Amino acid sequence: MLHRQSVLLLGGSGFLGSAMRRAMGMEVAVWTYHENPASDGRSRSFDASSTPVKDLIAGLRGKPDAAIVLFGRTSIDFCARHPLESAKVNVQGAVRVVDELRELGIMPVFVSSDAVFDGSRSWSREDDPVRPILTYGKQKLEVEQHIAALPPPWLVVRLPKLVSENGDPRCMLTQWMKQLQAQEEILCATDQFFTPAAAADVAGAIRALIRNGAQGLFHLGGAQRLSRRDLLSLLVEEYGRHKSVRTRIVDCLLKDLNFAEERPRDTSMRSDKARKEFQYEQKPLSTVVQAAVAACERAS
Ligand SMILES: NC(=O)c1ccc[n+]([C@@H]2O[C@H](COP(=O)([O-])OP(=O)(O)OC[C@H]3O[C@@H](n4cnc5c(N)ncnc54)[C@H](OP(=O)(O)O)[C@@H]3O)[C@@H](O)[C@H]2O)c1
Repeated sequence: MLHRQSVLLLGGSGFLGSAMRRAMGMEVAVWTYHENPASDGRSRSFDASSTPVKDLIAGLRGKPDAAIVLFGRTSIDFCARHPLESAKVNVQGAVRVVDELRELGIMPVFVSSDAVFDGSRSWSREDDPVRPILTYGKQKLEVEQHIAALPPPWLVVRLPKLVSENGDPRCMLTQWMKQLQAQEEILCATDQFFTPAAAADVAGAIRALIRNGAQGLFHLGGAQRLSRRDLLSLLVEEYGRHKSVRTRIVDCLLKDLNFAEERPRDTSMRSDKARKEFQYEQKPLSTVVQAAVAACERAS
């Protein structure tokens, strides 16, 4: 009989955690929350600074194959404004957990970000130089470097901006749709480029990487490089098929927005390694946008 893999989702209550739970179903042995427990009581409380991983696995029938380290203070501006507080979770917490996982013989899968790049190059590959300009990206890189110095097995996946096909208040597509519905002005940067991907595709790819025994560093970007403004145009066009668009869209540049730190301009990633070695596939963004608008229409 085929072995059913078993994983821990550390930070399973978040945006990607929800997609991972849908993609992995019964393969999730334990998933954790910090402030947002599941209403059915199925998630386990976890504090990155203090909860021993061994307490989470006590009572399980077998040792999990892998633990996906998803937790973090994920707001870029929060990390910039509170570098020490965010590092306690994003760096010290992640390193503590990775080290304990290795002692327990459970493979760590660390979820990193395209924010490790400085934004000066298109289509970065895994072996391109990294030079984060954001505190959040510097924190991700610190953990990546800690893991890279460890003997195998370990896995690091760098993710792009994630979007949801199902409607999720944490997804930028859903947030824009709310503004379209409310006819609220949308301010959108034309000079930020990325390779967004559907959270469900990325979750499926992480599952497949673990299942196939992948090791090392992988990019899991979307197939298309486009600007934030181009993504908004795709959404507005699709939304316009269902409802009339009365919202004013104001183009701007990243420097016009009041961010705590300068944002990288181009964090697009090439994901050929995962595509060639593990048949990583991503839906075209037009399909993702179509599904997201349909989900929003159903919900309204
Ligand atoms: N979403 C994206 O577009 C994207 C892109 C690139 C990389 N990533 C990375 O992917 C991972 C998941 O992202 P996400 O969008 O799912 O983030 P999210 O929605 O902000 O979820 C963060 C998770 O971390 C938990 N958490 C926060 N503080 C914690 C603490 N002190 N101790 C333990 N757990 C804590 C949260 O629990 P509660 O909610 O229960 O408090 C939640 O489960 C992150 O590492 C993020 O950096 C995400």
